[in-house]
Amino acid sequence: MQVAVLSGAGISAESGVPTFRDAETGLWAKVDPYEISSSDGWRAHPERVWAWYLWRHYMMGAVQPNNGHRAVAAWQDYADVHVVTQNVDNLHERAGSKKVYHLHGSLFEFRCDRCQVGYEGELPEMPEPVETVDPPRCVCGGMIRPSVVWFGEALPEDAWQRSVEAVTGADLVVVVGTSSIVYPAAGLPEFALANGIPVIEVNPERTPLSDSATVSLREPAAAALPTLLQRLPALLD
Ligand code: APR
Repeated sequence: MQVAVLSGAGISAESGVPTFRDAETGLWAKVDPYEISSSDGWRAHPERVWAWYLWRHYMMGAVQPNNGHRAVAAWQDYADVHVVTQNVDNLHERAGSKKVYHLHGSLFEFRCDRCQVGYEGELPEMPEPVETVDPPRCVCGGMIRPSVVWFGEALPEDAWQRSVEAVTGADLVVVVGTSSIVYPAAGLPEFALANGIPVIEVNPERTPLSDSATVSLREPAAAALPTLLQRLPALLD
C-alpha cells in the first residue's frame, strides 16, 4: 500500500514549534509574514530576515519529534510512505521517516543568494532571539540565505515532482496539520480526490478541505495518527 502524508505546521505544534496562523501562538502573530518571509523583505532588510530564520534553525535543536511524527515513521513497516511536508523543520526525518519532500524548503539548508551555491560554512551563534544578525557572505560576495521558499518564489522542482508522483500513486492520502490555504501544496489533496484516492484530514479545526475530504477527523495529530492505520477499515468502509 502506498501512503502519501501531506503535513503542515500543525504536526509540529505538539513538539512546541509554533504554527503560522494559529491566532495567539502563530509565528505570524509576532511578525509580518510578508516582511520576514519574502524576497522583498530579504532585499529590504536581510539582517532581520536572517536573524528570524537563524532563531528558528536553533530553536529546532531544543524540540523533539512527537507521537504524530513517530506514527508516520512507524507506518513505513506496513506501507510505502512518502511524506510531503510544507514544514521547514527536520522532525519527520528525526522521527525516522525516510522519504520526506520539503515543498517549502528547509531550515537546515543554506545557499548564496547570488551564485546559488550551497553553504556549508559556520553559522553565527544565537544564544537567544535577536532582531538583527548580518548574514554570512559567500566567496562571490553574495549573502547567505536560508534555503526556504519565500512568498512569491517557485517551489523546488525536485520536491514538487516527487510530491506529485507520491500523491498520484497513493492508495491513501493523509493531510495533517495544515490550514490547506497555501497553493500549490493545497491542490494535492484536491487532485487525489478528483482521481478517486481517499483523503483523510487530521486537524482540530475545520479547513477548506474539511467538507471535501473523504474523512475529516477533528483531532490533534499526536492523538489521531498512532491508531489511524488500525482505524482505516472503519473510517473508509
Ligand atoms: N494537530 C493537527 N493540526 C493542528 C494541531 C495539532 N496538534 N495544532 C494546530 N493544527 C492545525 C491548525 O488548526 C491549522 O489548520 O495546523 C494548521 C496550521 O496551519 P498554518 O499555521 O497555516 O500552517 P501551514 O498550513 O503549514 O501553512 C502552510 O504557509 O506560511 C506558509 O510556508 C508557510 O508552509 C507554510 C504554509
